Amino acid sequence: MENKIEDLTTAPSLAPPSGGGGGIHVFAPATVANVVCGFDVLGFAVNEPGDEVIMRMTNKPGITISKITGDDGRLPMDPAKNTVSVSVQHYLQSVGRTDIGLDIELHKKMPIGSGLGSSSASTVAGLFAIKTLLGDDSDPAKLLPFAMKGEEMACGHGHADNVAPALLGGFVLIRSYEPLDVVRLPHPAGLYCAIVFPDVDVPTREARQIIRKNIQMKDAVTQWGNIAGLVSGLFMNDIDLIGRSMKDVLVEPVRSMLIPDFYKMREMAMELGAVSFGISGSGPSVFAFTKDEDTAKRITQKLQKHLTALKIGSNGYVSTINDAGPKVLG
Ligand code: HSE
Repeated sequence: MENKIEDLTTAPSLAPPSGGGGGIHVFAPATVANVVCGFDVLGFAVNEPGDEVIMRMTNKPGITISKITGDDGRLPMDPAKNTVSVSVQHYLQSVGRTDIGLDIELHKKMPIGSGLGSSSASTVAGLFAIKTLLGDDSDPAKLLPFAMKGEEMACGHGHADNVAPALLGGFVLIRSYEPLDVVRLPHPAGLYCAIVFPDVDVPTREARQIIRKNIQMKDAVTQWGNIAGLVSGLFMNDIDLIGRSMKDVLVEPVRSMLIPDFYKMREMAMELGAVSFGISGSGPSVFAFTKDEDTAKRITQKLQKHLTALKIGSNGYVSTINDAGPKVLG
């Protein structure tokens, strides 16, 4: 696949529907946005967790949502208010197929408001499902503007650093938003990611409101040096350069206050051999890069044990970087 993805705005031409009244079951992965120093511009996909969408063609034009599981009743069943159906509707309008009928089942397999791109995974699963059902074989990157509409609805801002890696897989740079210019980056094969979700609520909308609107030039210099260092490390397969570049002087100092014992968790992860540690997306999930699976497992276990002692529930995940993105399960 070419790294640079161009022309994300023209409508694709469609083959005749392949669904023929049938259905499709799609998985889309969780993502770690920002990757510490790249606020709104860097993200990568992981193997688990992820969300699933089952989509069926119906005879009545319009979209219905017949079932949502795993959300504790928190997500709207109204298709005009659900990010999956709204994004799919935007896509259908762009390809001139508002005549078709669709029913959507959404199965949440990851916590909402976790900082793991929960809404992005659902939206991307829905968009990938309709694209496949309609036999649209254009570049999946063309779905990005529709997925970003879902993000805008979910948290008030259409950032792409979760939806782009969920859709394209791998490590992704949003080089520019206007015009949208998305670049897939290479990464060392042996990079593991340990993720811990402390079960406290940090809505992205609020986590965006608390960050500073103005920054000092000296902080900007530190930050862009680190972003360039991280991207260089990815290209050079230099895990130590990746690790020492993953420092954030702009957002983490503020958002870390929303995460229980953030600095203690960092200290524990680094002592256990993490290459780097930081907030996943807008939090409260945290993640560490490691050079092997055992270290990643030890980190999730230790951090989860620490959170249990603080009487905070948690989920832990260990994954390599997921280069595949969404996949059809059936
Ligand atoms: N870049 C976004 C933020 C990601 O940090 O607000 C949200 O998951």
